[in-house]
Amino acid sequence: MADQAFISSTQVVPNLNRVPRHIVIIMDGNGRWARKRFLPRMAGHTRGVEVVRGTIRAAIERGVEYLTLFAFSSENWRRPAEEVSFLMQLFIKSLQKEVTRLHENGIRFRVIGDRSRFEPVLVRAIEAAEKLTAGNDRLHLTVAANYGGRWDVISAVNRVLARQPGLTTIDEEAINAELSMNFAPEPDLFIRTGGEQRISNFLLWQLAYAEFFFTDTLWPDFDGKVLDQAIVSYHERERRFGRTSEQLVVGAGGEAERHA
Ligand code: IPE
Ligand code: IPE
Ligand code: MG
Repeated sequence: MADQAFISSTQVVPNLNRVPRHIVIIMDGNGRWARKRFLPRMAGHTRGVEVVRGTIRAAIERGVEYLTLFAFSSENWRRPAEEVSFLMQLFIKSLQKEVTRLHENGIRFRVIGDRSRFEPVLVRAIEAAEKLTAGNDRLHLTVAANYGGRWDVISAVNRVLARQPGLTTIDEEAINAELSMNFAPEPDLFIRTGGEQRISNFLLWQLAYAEFFFTDTLWPDFDGKVLDQAIVSYHERERRFGRTSEQLVVGAGGEAERHA
């Protein structure tokens, strides 16, 4: 499971594994979970972090290589200041508490998103966790925090331009190389809990050919069973990447496009 660069689904047809190599999750529904129990929203967020731990374990057991979790969007700053502050503190505390365990389990941890608005203590905790786990590759765990899909693409374009001033056109490869997930294959499976069926500015570019799975399960109730439902649903999909069904014969053209 060596580190591998972004593989573009629009430029080459990827080889597919039975288990999705890269799963991304929008962890939604914490507030509603709490409200159903007459608890403050914060109780839902606290419970949500505990569910992350179980999800990481379940993903490793199933042989997933990359797990990417949307924790805080670039639009979540619009929430009440009290909730934003609670979420930031929860992130700091969880990082400090879990980093050793992540490392012991061979997990490589990364954060994607704009860190410039984070408190220095959070930035330091993220950097320390990334550094500690930099040599691991049992699971690539990425947390998207203050992340926005549009921010990601714009930042990538700006980096390309900064590197080569005077450029008049930009190609896909140049952008791929500068995206915040340039270390990972494109997501195979996108899961959103909480019943909403939208992307909410998550990995807009990278989701070009991902399979989508929406569940009404609220994030604090998510578990291995729901993950398996998503994977079973994924198995039932025919990933054509623009081709016809008839072209998807195993071995044709040297490519095994169906799930082996
Ligand atoms: C997801 O749960 C967590 C974050 C966005 C931080 P929500 O807080 O969005 O929960 P709902 O959607 O209000 O139930
Ligand atoms: C998306 O959830 C962001 C995260 C889960 C971090 P939201 O609850 O913020 O999304 P919207 O506002 O319902 O689209
Ligand atoms: Mg929500």
